[in-house]
Amino acid sequence: MIVYRSIHDLRAALDAERAHAKTIGLVPTMGALHAGHMSLLAQSVEHNDLTVCSLFVNPIQFNNPEDLKKYPINEVADFAMLESNGCDIVFAPDQGEMYGEEIGLKMNFGVLESVLEGEFRPGHFSGVGVVVSKLFNIVQPHRAYFGQKDLQQLAIIRKLTRDLNFPIQIVGIPIMREANGLAMSSRNMRLSDAQRDIAAQLYVAMSSIKEDLDRNVPIEKSIALAKDSLRHMEGIQLEYMEIVDSDTMQPVSKIENDKNISICAAAFVGEVRIIDNLYIAQN
Ligand code: PAJ
Repeated sequence: MIVYRSIHDLRAALDAERAHAKTIGLVPTMGALHAGHMSLLAQSVEHNDLTVCSLFVNPIQFNNPEDLKKYPINEVADFAMLESNGCDIVFAPDQGEMYGEEIGLKMNFGVLESVLEGEFRPGHFSGVGVVVSKLFNIVQPHRAYFGQKDLQQLAIIRKLTRDLNFPIQIVGIPIMREANGLAMSSRNMRLSDAQRDIAAQLYVAMSSIKEDLDRNVPIEKSIALAKDSLRHMEGIQLEYMEIVDSDTMQPVSKIENDKNISICAAAFVGEVRIIDNLYIAQN
């Protein structure tokens, strides 16, 4: 496994590989890697000749400076995990290499970002769109891998790829969970064991909505019941919980089985913000 810090050097290495008709898979991450990231990597390693994983804590996608300051960083452990899971190339630039002095570029994804995460994290998706576009241009992969854990991010990246005509196949990978149901996340490192169990209640609540809907409980009632159960729980503050079309992220009022429909939710457990989602219909 080779680690590149410079865009120029990475490009030179990848140009040589492309000249030999090698297919390239890209796994963009912000580091603090866990088994969720590794499931993206495994798919890329299986389907491409060469896998590039990027590690870059992207400052322009953090709307909360405290969250950026506390974002876990552990390059040594990350490199070891990547190497033992078959990654070929790591791209780990510093902030200056990615953005120079300053970047003023902004992206707007319209209705896709006016809801859910977009509503609670202004500017977040602009920052994601800018950094992912830069990574696509730098690496020029054939395929890029993203987790369904960040469902709205996945929808936005699919749109970005269409709108800017990137010749890249976007592959969405299912959510990896802890044994108690908690979706794996780098931010979970900041939770105590007790808080991890509380955080898992978000998944329990979403699962109960899914069960209620399967028993034909009306949407509004099933959400109200789940919200109520969380409201009475100590240590977790729900931010939103909605049933949306998984492609457009817009709220739905009825479940149509030929559509992609998901429950999306975000909550604070102590100071840590967690997000999760669960498919309830998939076409
Ligand atoms: P990060 O949070 O490090 O996540 C990197 C990728 O791993 C994302 O595509 C995310 O959806 C996926 N992922 C995280 N937890 C997962 C889990 N439990 N199961 C499956 N996949 C999971 O998302 C970002 O970084 C950034 O926004 C990025 C796209 C790198 C742009 O900066």
